[in-house]
Amino acid sequence: MKKKNILIVDDDHSMRFALSESLASCGYETEAVENGCEALLVFKKKKFDLVLTDMRMPGMTGIDVLRGVKKLSPCIPVILVTAYGTVNTAVEAMKEGAAEFIMKPFSLDDLETIVKNVLNNCETETAHKQEALQTSPGIITRDPRVIAILDMLRNIAKSKSSILIQGESGTGKELLSRYVHQHSNRRNNPYVAVNCAAIPHNLLESEMFGYEKGAFTGASQKKLGKFELANTGTLLLDEVSEMDMHLQAKLLRVIQESEVDRLGGNAPIPVDVRIIATTNTYLAAAIENKTFRGDLFYRLNVIPVKIPPLRERNGDILFLADYFLDKFGKESGAKKIVLSDKAAALLKSYHFPGNVRELENIIERAVLMTHGNHISPEYLCLEGQNDIETVHRSMSDFLPSSHLTSVNGIMTLKDAEKALICDTLNRVDGNKTKAAKVLGISVRTLWNKVQEYNVTESGSD
Ligand SMILES: Nc1ncnc2c1ncn2[C@@H]1O[C@H](COP(=O)(O)OP(=O)(O)OP(=O)(O)O)[C@@H](O)[C@H]1O
Ligand SMILES: [Mg+2]
Repeated sequence: MKKKNILIVDDDHSMRFALSESLASCGYETEAVENGCEALLVFKKKKFDLVLTDMRMPGMTGIDVLRGVKKLSPCIPVILVTAYGTVNTAVEAMKEGAAEFIMKPFSLDDLETIVKNVLNNCETETAHKQEALQTSPGIITRDPRVIAILDMLRNIAKSKSSILIQGESGTGKELLSRYVHQHSNRRNNPYVAVNCAAIPHNLLESEMFGYEKGAFTGASQKKLGKFELANTGTLLLDEVSEMDMHLQAKLLRVIQESEVDRLGGNAPIPVDVRIIATTNTYLAAAIENKTFRGDLFYRLNVIPVKIPPLRERNGDILFLADYFLDKFGKESGAKKIVLSDKAAALLKSYHFPGNVRELENIIERAVLMTHGNHISPEYLCLEGQNDIETVHRSMSDFLPSSHLTSVNGIMTLKDAEKALICDTLNRVDGNKTKAAKVLGISVRTLWNKVQEYNVTESGSD
């Protein structure tokens, strides 16, 4: 088997020599350089399996070398050697993707074990990455800031550190949370999501922490809370700012102690859960207003992620639009559908208050409504962007004008509704799922109305 090749970076001559000799004696090929610049030059020319760099050097530091190497080759493991190993440097190095940290002084045995483990992990990780790529939820982006977030999240996915994802509604916070889970070693363990905004305050506590039989009136069975259900896996606390102060205190305790107290229970239960919290409100303001605990914020915000809104991700608008056109085009069985130049320009200048979710809905609706393979601006129905004339044209094009005439020029709301349903069904070839989406009602409601109005269809579902 080919020997693994290690690049050693250290400004101290005797340390360089000692590292080279020791690793060579363990069966590795080595090359040693004395500073970061030289290291990157050599790294560009030759293939290495691992980089071992000193942290404190004149000029480029170990972290600079780590960044440079990761830019050139994101998968190469980098080990940092330091005599100044503080927790902060370790966290910083981890976020930047360091595989390990060795603190001086160390023995040859320590060095050999760490290098061997890192190289082994790297091999299994490559295998896992291939697997994860196939199963990871599709996050479509070409925005450098989002790409950097994904890189960072992959690097810290294996740790247990809490992550706080902040971003406007519809920016993809939940998607990022799943991304972390799927890139972590917990990927085959539970992934549990709690939407703190959707569960009434008085129920959230028992949902999260569970209860014992008889804990309160109506507790006829023991119930496991989300923390216990997520044990060994990941727990997403969606809209965490919606938790009341009492629950925030309990949550803080769970994070600190890694154990939960069921309501009515008499002993804490140990849990091993990676917490990811999301919020679309500005937590600093909530802390100031005393509606969110500062200490909880710091516990959750170990790895802070701020996902930019879509309007600030210029390259992403049309890139994502293309992706959704393809997706919904395929679903509706149409040929390739594209945006007209005007529609593309309109999308690029739109402010997307609902972010990617809104873009997804806009494209889905446009694909359903358009006749040909081109989407023109009126089918986009952008909030506040279509001028009255365009809206009118699109409405009159879409409304069932043929049906809107009645004997005396007057029609009831029911007649209008029936006519609209007929026309929509005709437009989507009788497909009720699509028609319901266009009309903004559930398929069941559409069914009921079809029965009620005795609508005859031109196609089938
Ligand atoms: N980069 C992306 N690529 C593909 N789809 C995306 C992307 N970002 C978001 N989406 C899609 O947009 C929708 C909203 O995403 P998600 O639910 O993750 O947003 P969110 O930030 O959690 O929103 P909210 O704050 O409203 O809960 C989903 O359908 C998701 O699949
Ligand atoms: Mg969400």
